Amino acid sequence: MSHNLLQGKRGIISGALDENSLAWKTAVKAHQQGAKIVLTNAPIAMRMGEIKKLAEQTGSEIIPADATNMDELTNLFSKSQEIMGGKIDFVLHAIGMSTNIRKNIAYPELNYDFYNKTLDVSALSLHRMLNVAYKMDAMSEWGSVVALSYIAAQRAFSFYTDMADAKALLESIVRSFGYHYGKYRKVRVNSISQSPTKTTAGGGIKGFGDFYDFAELNSPLGNASAEACADYCVSLFSDYTKMVTMQNLFHDGGYSFTGMTDDLMKAFAKE
Ligand SMILES: NC(=O)c1ccc[n+]([C@@H]2O[C@H](COP(=O)([O-])OP(=O)(O)OC[C@H]3O[C@@H](n4cnc5c(N)ncnc54)[C@H](O)[C@@H]3O)[C@@H](O)[C@H]2O)c1
Repeated sequence: MSHNLLQGKRGIISGALDENSLAWKTAVKAHQQGAKIVLTNAPIAMRMGEIKKLAEQTGSEIIPADATNMDELTNLFSKSQEIMGGKIDFVLHAIGMSTNIRKNIAYPELNYDFYNKTLDVSALSLHRMLNVAYKMDAMSEWGSVVALSYIAAQRAFSFYTDMADAKALLESIVRSFGYHYGKYRKVRVNSISQSPTKTTAGGGIKGFGDFYDFAELNSPLGNASAEACADYCVSLFSDYTKMVTMQNLFHDGGYSFTGMTDDLMKAFAKE
């Protein structure tokens, strides 16, 4: 159902790899709500070709950019303004990758080259995007930038290894850049801390299936779906959340504030 919440707005959406991606669902919903969008992903992800389907479905263009490369990000922001005919109203940062996780390396034994890469791709990339947009003055006043995070930024989760550190840094960049961009152009910067969700990045984590079920049982509303996450992103891009900035917003069915549910107790009951 469309309420035209994003009518007349121009957005950049990163991180749509396939239909399961949180960014994919957000692109579809932003389009339904009347936004013009440009899609972007790392050149290597383009080769898989899936994103072209999303571009057709949403009538959007694709601009490849490795989010760790300043020249490619500069090209992304300048071409996006050319294509859509004006400054950018919203940006979704939905980028994460850890080779330590892919290779099943435990936290005490992290490989530091991979660790650096994790931080660069998953956290510094947000700073780089904001830096490029800020210097080019590419965002409209009251524009909105949303990054996707996870509760391992605040609590220890054994399996999340260096991504936990990347998410803590990401959320700190949200606060610090949110301050500067707010003062400069009233641009809002927030992160959404999303439930475990069955995507390529999520599914790459060891034991993800069991943990997904655990979180489902330990959230009074159950896990937040990818569609619900997309709806929340749309609301943050819209004019209804103009005074929300520098926040990490939990979107997790209540998981973050629950100690124990009856459902989880039942699952462990001995008699
Ligand atoms: N799935 C979950 O359980 C979950 C939960 C909370 C937060 N998140 C976060 O949501 C975001 C999106 O992940 P997702 O779950 O939709 O998985 P996904 O695998 O569909 O998306 C991750 C994206 O990051 C892109 N990417 C990787 N390296 C890049 C680079 N150098 N430059 C540009 N793009 C690059 C990938 O191509 C991919 O499109 C990530 O930040 C992830 O950490 C996911």
